[in-house]
Amino acid sequence: MPLITSAEMFKKAYEGRYAVGAFNVNNMEIIQGISEAAREEKAPLILQVSAGARKYARPAYLKKLVEAAVEDTGLSVVLHLDHGENFDICKDCIDDGFSSVMIDGSRLPFEENVALTKKVVDYAHEKGAVVEAELGKLAGIEDNVNVSAREATFTDPDQAVEFVERTGVDSLAIAIGTSHGAYKFKGEPMLDFERLERITKMLPGFPLVLHGASTVLPEFVELCNEYGGDIPGAKGVPEEMLRRAAEQGVCKINIDTDLRLAMTAAVRKYLAENPSEFDPRKYLGSGRDAIKKMVQHKIRNVLGCSGKA
Ligand code: G3H
Ligand code: 13P
Ligand code: ZN
Repeated sequence: MPLITSAEMFKKAYEGRYAVGAFNVNNMEIIQGISEAAREEKAPLILQVSAGARKYARPAYLKKLVEAAVEDTGLSVVLHLDHGENFDICKDCIDDGFSSVMIDGSRLPFEENVALTKKVVDYAHEKGAVVEAELGKLAGIEDNVNVSAREATFTDPDQAVEFVERTGVDSLAIAIGTSHGAYKFKGEPMLDFERLERITKMLPGFPLVLHGASTVLPEFVELCNEYGGDIPGAKGVPEEMLRRAAEQGVCKINIDTDLRLAMTAAVRKYLAENPSEFDPRKYLGSGRDAIKKMVQHKIRNVLGCSGKA
């Protein structure tokens, strides 16, 4: 089974009103935990690599580890670059065999974002890869004080239509209130579902992407706190909101923070309970098991993509 693009995957997800999980990977245990969960659930899978992950693990290792996961599980997997910030990193990844890249021009003025995205799309499509872009800015918690300032950074539906038409991009990440990391909301979690509905209606059938979609599962935060440092005030996107987004045209849901928390909680617990253990396979193995269990839960109960591979 090969590395595949997300084109067919998103078409089925859109029609079936479910989402595919896009999980960030940094090392072997994370890749194994996620891909074993997807294999057991017979779920479609996107493994994504950030620039930071490439730097940490080095490009050759991550690519080969993902290929090993494909060989070991028999799954078809999308290998995706997460948050490519310029043309060169997208080109590098495409040349290296990635089937999908994100060009993140969300920090740029509209016209510059269009031009950069179009340049990447032209290159990627010639090589058989697909492209995700982003329009609108994901808010940080510090932006959370003023509702109107926060909403000003959300994706404008009219601009989204123009952006998709002019760039030929294959999927679009939108800003409707999520943000990266473990601190997404100061008060009650709120996503702009009305805006999402408008975008979906104006771009029927077009796959939308939700970044910053970790739930920051309390069980892991509590375990991290019990066995180590404090993670006070952590708050993520409630799972029922993610299910609702998946039913409303969001085909790809990005998860990294929940992986980090699951792994860290398990490793901290293992080492606290086995203080004289120093075999990395033991504590990293417990991290891998925790990731597998968490990803199975997401696939079954949140994304709705169990059995859809
Ligand atoms: O959206 C960002 C992802 O969580 C990746 O984070 O750049 O620290 O690898 P990273
Ligand atoms: P989280 O930090 O919510 O897991 O978001 C991950 C993400 O969007 C990766 O691109
Ligand atoms: Zn992201």
